[in-house]
Order: sequence, then C-alpha cells, then structure tokens
Amino acid sequence: MRLQDKVCVITGAGGGMGRKAAERFAREGGRIAILERNESAGVQAEAVIRSQGGEAKFFACDASSEDSVQAAVAGAYQHFGRIDVLYNNAGIMPEADHSVLDTSVETWDMVMAVNVRSIFLMSKYVVPHMLEQSAGSIINIASFVALMGCSVPQDAYTASKGAVISLTKSLAIQFRPRGVRSNAICPGPIETPLMTEWLLKDEAAKQVRLSRQPSGRFGRPEDIVNCALYLASDESDWTNGAVIVVDGGITSNYF
Ligand SMILES: NC(=O)c1ccc[n+]([C@@H]2O[C@H](COP(=O)([O-])OP(=O)(O)OC[C@H]3O[C@@H](n4cnc5c(N)ncnc54)[C@H](O)[C@@H]3O)[C@@H](O)[C@H]2O)c1
Repeated sequence: MRLQDKVCVITGAGGGMGRKAAERFAREGGRIAILERNESAGVQAEAVIRSQGGEAKFFACDASSEDSVQAAVAGAYQHFGRIDVLYNNAGIMPEADHSVLDTSVETWDMVMAVNVRSIFLMSKYVVPHMLEQSAGSIINIASFVALMGCSVPQDAYTASKGAVISLTKSLAIQFRPRGVRSNAICPGPIETPLMTEWLLKDEAAKQVRLSRQPSGRFGRPEDIVNCALYLASDESDWTNGAVIVVDGGITSNYF
C-alpha cells in the first residue's frame, strides 16, 4: 500500500475531489483526517471509509477561519499523533465571481478567504508538526485557470489560484531543507458538484467547453486523485515546488 500508516489531513474531504481522495488514500493505508465545513458530508465520508475497513475521523472545520483551523488541526494531531500529508483541497467558485467590472468586494474577499487564506492557515498550524518530524508532504490544489485567460472571466477565482501556485513555491523553498515538500496540482475541468452545479448546467455551455478539450471528456475526480496519491506517497520524495497540470491537454490548446 502506497500510504501505509501515513496521517493525511484533507480539507473539503466531504465532497467532490476531496471525498474521492479521502476514500482512495484510506484504501492505500492512509489514516484520514476529514476537515470539512459541511457537517453531514463530513460525517458521511467518515462512515463510508470506516465501512470499507479504512481509518478516518471527521473534524468540523471552516478552512478559512483561524479559530476553526487551529481547533481542527489540534484535534487531528491529538487523535493521530502526527501529520504526514496536508492536502489543501477546499475551494469555492461562486457564480457571483465574474469580471473585475461586476464582482463585489464581498465576493472577492470570500473567494480569497476560502481558496488562499485556508492554505495559509492550514500551513501555519500543520507545518510545525511536520518540521518536528522532519518530514511531510503538502499538496495544494490550484487550477488550470491560473495559467491562462478565459473570455468568461472568474477573476477572483483565477487570481486566488495564481496565489496558490506562488505560495506553494515559497513553502517548497522554505521547508524542503527541513524535510517538508510542497507541490501544486492544476486540475482542468473536472465533473464535480463545483462544476456541474452551474458551469455545466446548460448543455450548450457544456458542449462549448468540451470542444476545447483534446481528450474529448471532462476530467474525473480520480484523474486528480491519482496525481495527489503520487505526491502524498514517498515516490515523490524529489518532487518539490512542482506545478503539475492534469487537464487532459486543455491548456496546450491554442485553437
Ligand atoms: N471541479 C473542477 O473542475 C476544478 C478544476 C480546477 C480546480 N478545482 C479545485 O479543486 C478543489 C476541489 O474542487 P471540487 O470540484 O471537488 O469542489 P466541490 O465543491 O465539489 O467540493 C468542495 C468541498 O469542499 C468543502 N468546502 C468548501 N469550502 C470549505 C471551507 N471553507 N472549509 C472546509 N471545507 C470547505 C465543500 O463543503 C465540499 O465538500 C477546489 O480547490 C477547486 O477550486 C476544481
């Protein structure tokens, strides 16, 4: 098993890709701390993993709130006794986020808080444990939209994911000499609730997006989880500061 006994803290592990990662990591021998703000989703994720013979515990957490992160990380550390993997997955893409011309300050701040401040806070409270162990792997979920412009803008989301990449590189350089590596994944469009709830609701919009995709399909959560599994495992010991694009080829598509 590729994650035997590794304690993996995953934010947003109650739904979408985070949930799939939690289940897969548990099947690979990981001990999973589910940090999730949606209580029923977190409870359900924990129950499913346990019913499959895996080890998991849910900690209620709004990853954008310092008090909440501090309490959840303390709870996870107390329960498991160490933290090997920090998987910063939680993120939002609200419909109200559009162009700078018509996005409110409230929407901008909310997106930045959930997508960027969460990684700052999770790192602030988890990295000290990893440094004590002289080992750890941080996986930050950015997005392909951080790498290219889009004529249907989501400016707060795009900027937030650019910040995720920059922060990843800074963490990678600071902490790898003390055993902690940091990498980012840029997923292309993946069929999760985040996408299907509005971007793919309309069949015409869906077809336009698919026409740009050389792989002929949207991504599946498993496509990203496979990459994250590599980054969580010791196989990626010499991978640090990398920005790994897993997008079916869409960012290579000029026309
Ligand atoms: N789906 C895509 O096409 C796509 C593409 C590129 C990047 N991403 C990124 O991948 C990550 C996961 O996306 P997804 O599609 O699985 O999303 P999703 O909306 O399907 O699931 C996100 C999960 O995170 C939880 N969550 C949201 N805010 C939280 C917070 N403040 N604290 C704790 N938990 C919180 C939600 O309750 C939910 O369970 C996000 O960072 C997203 O930006 C998604």
